[in-house]
Amino acid sequence: MKYLPIDSQLFIGNRERFAKELKPNSMAIFNSNDIMPTNADGVMPFRQNNDLFYLSGIDQEETVLVICPDAKDETQREMLFVKETSDEIAIWEGAKLTHEQALAVSGIKSVNWIAEFEGYMDALVKDCDIVYLNQNIHSRAAKEVETRDDRFAKNFKKKNPEVTIQNAAAIMHKLRAIKSDIEITQMQTACDITEKGFRRILKFIKPGVMEHEIEAELSHEFLRNRATGFAYASIIASGFDACVLHYVDNNKECKDGEVILMDFGAEYANYTSDMTRSVPVNGRFTDRQRDVYSAVLRVMRGAYPLLTIGKLIKDYHAEVGLLMEEELIGLGLLEAAEVKKQDPENPLYKKYFMHGTSHFLGLDVHDVGNFDWPIQAGNVFTCEPGIYIREENLGIRLENDLLITDNGVVDLMGNIPIEAEEIEELMNG
Ligand code: GLY
Ligand code: MN
Ligand code: MN
Repeated sequence: MKYLPIDSQLFIGNRERFAKELKPNSMAIFNSNDIMPTNADGVMPFRQNNDLFYLSGIDQEETVLVICPDAKDETQREMLFVKETSDEIAIWEGAKLTHEQALAVSGIKSVNWIAEFEGYMDALVKDCDIVYLNQNIHSRAAKEVETRDDRFAKNFKKKNPEVTIQNAAAIMHKLRAIKSDIEITQMQTACDITEKGFRRILKFIKPGVMEHEIEAELSHEFLRNRATGFAYASIIASGFDACVLHYVDNNKECKDGEVILMDFGAEYANYTSDMTRSVPVNGRFTDRQRDVYSAVLRVMRGAYPLLTIGKLIKDYHAEVGLLMEEELIGLGLLEAAEVKKQDPENPLYKKYFMHGTSHFLGLDVHDVGNFDWPIQAGNVFTCEPGIYIREENLGIRLENDLLITDNGVVDLMGNIPIEAEEIEELMNG
């Protein structure tokens, strides 16, 4: 791993909170992600299962975590099963975690080899009334690919048809939505690396550079600062493509007079950051570009104080919609009279601002959590208003990552230049 070791208290505390949510006499089993194969003998880069990571800190394939708070044998209340290093693995890949290393990372004292897992299972299952298994219940989860957890659940149910199964995911969503101080430290590091990348490209962007050259600069800055890489596929979208919300080709030349929208973030220690900036390719906004930019920035600034504890996230989204409506009228894009008559279920501002303002952020970019919940201290949200005017080849989005606290919003990207003047100064300095 490129990232520095994380205090195992994070994972110890997470397991304690998780165990409190379980029904009596139950057990939970979490599997690591698979390493996905390519079409010959290659493999894709490994990305740990975020729930297993959250509860153990183990960033290695073929890992199983068992949490069984009421186990009679105290050593079986938390158990980790990890892959053993063979001679062949030692030669080709290097050593896997030893028991001692797995203990140091996770704080779990009972570490065993994965080959021993089945032997423990049969006895433990007999003593439990409920077994919690993990399944992705995100509303937009991709269903085509069977995860290691899915496969495990299928086999487990076949082998233990009499056991009552529950899904651990609802508990995980509740826990992961509230970030602890140690998590915020990781996320702040991710944001700080993103800042370094942004400051670097401000000096690099000029007419004639290619979008992928900008992406390459970011990649270099991220990796040299211990990021795993990009938290998601970067959007480096000049001109019209700023209006294509998921543009990721990043293959065009940036032209004089255009604005370039860049949505990127570093991933550090499996934690994501998610930022968007929109800058003039030649270092100076035109009057129109600046008007639209200022409108988006006002919406963003106006949204921060609306993120108050106890408010439903969907109500916050509706409030931001009103701010956007006013700005679009100011820009001459909407008519006040038409807005008055609009269908409230289908507001006119959606023509120019067609995505949500905020999403949960954490180990996943669109992190687990529920928009029907009230906002709570410890939530981290993005704030990302945008105005996309296809007929003007102009799309502007701004996005920062915000921590909700009892004393208001903390902007984890508060140091990253965003005012139009500062952006122009840095690009021309
Ligand atoms: N980068 C993905 C998003 O902004 O939601
Ligand atoms: Mn983004
Ligand atoms: Mn986002």
